[in-house]
Amino acid sequence: MDNVEKILSNVLELQSMPTVFLEALDNIQDPNVNAMKISNIISKDIALTTKLLRLVNSAYYGFPQEITQVNNAIALLGFRTVKDIIMMMALKPMMSSQSGKELWEHSIRCAYASQLLAESIMDIPAEEVFTIGLLHDIGRVLFQLYDIESFDEVSRLSEMGIDKLVVEEDVFGVDHTLVGEAFAIKENLPPIISSTIRYHHNPLDENAPVLSKIVYLAEMITQKKPKSPILENSFLEQLGIEIEDLDELRAEIFEKTDIVINALK
Ligand SMILES: [Fe+2]
Ligand SMILES: [Fe+2]
Repeated sequence: MDNVEKILSNVLELQSMPTVFLEALDNIQDPNVNAMKISNIISKDIALTTKLLRLVNSAYYGFPQEITQVNNAIALLGFRTVKDIIMMMALKPMMSSQSGKELWEHSIRCAYASQLLAESIMDIPAEEVFTIGLLHDIGRVLFQLYDIESFDEVSRLSEMGIDKLVVEEDVFGVDHTLVGEAFAIKENLPPIISSTIRYHHNPLDENAPVLSKIVYLAEMITQKKPKSPILENSFLEQLGIEIEDLDELRAEIFEKTDIVINALK
């Protein structure tokens, strides 16, 4: 059994994945999802209900009236957004250590950043972009479920400046892009999700989809300790992306996502 299979089967067999997360993944693929189904998922979970309402009533949306019913929240936000919120919540129980919590926050920031970038600079329909941004590091989530001490060690070393992919290869025998891709394929997620996960650290590869360029940039912007500059202009040019001020964009994304993260904590 190779390393990818070992990690995947270990995590899936131990049922470390909460049901609500797997249900949410199913829903991503269901074009006929309706209000009833979404309501059912949410109402099974008190924490999810509470946090959904807290987020809807937060400054992020700034609705003038107080929303107290899940049905009203769904009507105001729309299915897509409610599905995104379920996914954000569903990821959380899988993150138990401090580095895990940081990964959860990073995933949320990256989802919003990817969506914003896709809408504003590349004119890509934002439908699936949020989900892809949220799941881009699912390989790291799997590492955490597989062996939390090694995961924390990788996080510690990469924060010291050592290339994360190299450390992962060393510790787990494979990096998080390949494990994430394999997971997405196993869960039958759309190919655009699996290939973007695969190339999100390698956006100039000839097989990399356009979305991996977006997620790569979102990845760089949402680092806890970003590089300075966040990305060289020449690299932005190679990506074919024009952005005036990455620092300003980073500040805007952190300000918005702080509200979301606090509501869902
Ligand atoms: Fe990554
Ligand atoms: Fe990331």
